[in-house]
Amino acid sequence: MAPESIDGIEEQALKAIEGADTEEKLQDIKTEYLGRKGKITLFLRNIPSLPPEEKPVAGKKANLLKNRLEQEISDKIQAIEEAVSARPADIDVTLPGRKPKTGTLHPITKIQKEICSIFFKLGFQIAEGPEIEADWYNFEALNIPKHHPARDMQDTFYISDSVVLRTHTSPIQIRYMEKHEPPISIIAPGKVYRCDSDITHTPMFHQIEGLLVDKNISFGDLKGILESFIHNLFDKQTSLRFRPSFFPFTEPSAEVDIKCVMCRGAGCRVCSNTGWLEVLGSGMVHPAVFENVGYDTSVYSGFAFGMGVERLAMLKYGIDDLRKFYENDYRFLEQF
Ligand code: FA5
Ligand code: MG
Repeated sequence: MAPESIDGIEEQALKAIEGADTEEKLQDIKTEYLGRKGKITLFLRNIPSLPPEEKPVAGKKANLLKNRLEQEISDKIQAIEEAVSARPADIDVTLPGRKPKTGTLHPITKIQKEICSIFFKLGFQIAEGPEIEADWYNFEALNIPKHHPARDMQDTFYISDSVVLRTHTSPIQIRYMEKHEPPISIIAPGKVYRCDSDITHTPMFHQIEGLLVDKNISFGDLKGILESFIHNLFDKQTSLRFRPSFFPFTEPSAEVDIKCVMCRGAGCRVCSNTGWLEVLGSGMVHPAVFENVGYDTSVYSGFAFGMGVERLAMLKYGIDDLRKFYENDYRFLEQF
């Protein structure tokens, strides 16, 4: 087989290098021309058999071409490597974006805000108090004597003999009256704690306390405010009833029940088959409480109430188990 001319080899090789777009193809070209059996290698090996006058020119040309191809191939490999490392990771910018999930307010926070805004319209202001409370504020100042069952270890979380996790928001009444003179009208939302757990009780729950003190306040004012509140939170058709009750810090006292929205009063597990669900305790402030904060009982009278926020949320949103509010199931929570 007649050896190819060096000019022909040059033309072929440069064309091949130009068309190669991967490192692999360039390595193949290198083997084809510069390898042990490559075209240039064979050409060089054939030089001794050429006529003497052609030998120097052919040898020079072939060696120059050999160097040039080596250079061109390694330059091109380097250029490909650089292009690959400069390319960003495979991102398809035409794909639709993924929206981050935004949170929602917890249903308890939501209804708490709604309840407070109803009372703001009725002229009440917000007051607050600590969740870790002294025995004096949680019990004693509220006329709850030492032997009262509410003070039992079974119902109350004790921090020490004289410090408890507050069992209701009523201690905020005392703290507020100590620092302010009548007339006052406040609501006090907050977490409270009791050793309790079933479908209508959780060990931590929320209450909103209300307190109004002025001259000539009667039980009629209490009824009017609470009725207007319930009709605002639900609707005007919602039935409620005042049921005589007892609290050491109010006299007379009443608990307010709302007709069960789950069974419309027929009786179910939520209302323990009574058709009604207790949502708050209330009454006229007991004179002993006023005396503990230094108010003149011959001048002032007032009423107080404490409502269970979870109970109201159950009725408002139609939830049949209060514990669902605290299981942190996103599918439940994102519905509100
Ligand atoms: C009290 O806590 C009184 N401090 C309320 C009060 C305030 C009366 C001011 C008079 C004047 P009671 O223990 O009944 O009362 O609780 C009030 C409301 O909290 C109940 O009507 C109920 O709606 C809710 N509640 C009580 N225990 C739980 C619980 N474990 N889980 C969820 N809600 C509860
Ligand atoms: Mg009660």
